Amino acid sequence: MNLVIRIAAAILSVPPDVIAPIVPMMAPSPRNSLEVQLRNEVNTVLSGRCSAADAGAPLFAISSEEANFVDCNSGLPGVADVYKSDDNENLASTYGEITMLGARQLFYHMSLTTQKSESNNHQDFHFYDLGSGGGRLVIQSYLELPSVSTSVGIELSPSRHEIASQTYNYLQENGDIKRIRNLARRAWGKDKEDTDDSGIELYEGDLFKLDISKATHIYASSLCFSEQMLEMLVEKIELEATSLQVIASLRKLPLKESNNKALVKIGRNPWQEWIEMSWSKEGVSVYLYTVEKI
Ligand SMILES: C[S@@+](CC[C@H](N)C(=O)[O-])C[C@H]1O[C@@H](n2cnc3c(N)ncnc32)[C@H](O)[C@@H]1O
Repeated sequence: MNLVIRIAAAILSVPPDVIAPIVPMMAPSPRNSLEVQLRNEVNTVLSGRCSAADAGAPLFAISSEEANFVDCNSGLPGVADVYKSDDNENLASTYGEITMLGARQLFYHMSLTTQKSESNNHQDFHFYDLGSGGGRLVIQSYLELPSVSTSVGIELSPSRHEIASQTYNYLQENGDIKRIRNLARRAWGKDKEDTDDSGIELYEGDLFKLDISKATHIYASSLCFSEQMLEMLVEKIELEATSLQVIASLRKLPLKESNNKALVKIGRNPWQEWIEMSWSKEGVSVYLYTVEKI
């Protein structure tokens, strides 16, 4: 949690959680003027992309046929009940997304922005967005973070996935991915150019079928997930996410006392951060968990 919030909470003798939602949302300070330029470039190429909605329609409206599919009223074979939300307002078809400022807060709190010492400068993180919508977070993480070598998104809704793929292809074809990623490398003090622009993977499909064994950092915008989906997510992580270091989730994860088959342990003491989202400029609480291999 932000140091300013902690200090204000200490002065007022209230828990930091009381202060956090009323503090204006700020991105972590840029490390230098190149990073200011980097953020401007990213804002320019991603603004208005990944979030197409018809005029007057809610952000990222999808057809009723597709909403039925995503909410599983028309069904993914065999698992339809899992996708039915406990809360009818939070169906999978509901759309909201993390803002670009919010993404920078998230990257910071997930320790994706920490640079190792010069002698041990090689970070090789793999960032996964489970339920990646229009793909902006996935693309932004790859553009802004030299520490991330692959950014992976999976999205159930075909039209949202299509928008994500179109955006990525467009930015790759016109050279923006290479150009901006190299700007990020310079902002981080890395002089060697990165000629690879193929580190983004966008899949259309069900997150429960994705191989997450390489993921070092996972984000799940899980407000629309049912309790059963959250339980399945915990199980999937415990059994498969053997490289995982941090998971961030909008809903608290229903951790069990123990799981004999688990290969990783999700920390029992999550911390909360307030992060800007499209539906709340005051910030939404995100739970962050450290994860360790058993
Ligand atoms: C609230 S949006 C978040 C988009 C993006 N991750 C962000 O934070 O900006 C959540 C997305 O999860 C998708 N989703 C829900 N269940 C899913 C599943 N089982 N597999 C893949 N995507 C899913 C929804 O279609 C929706 O687009």
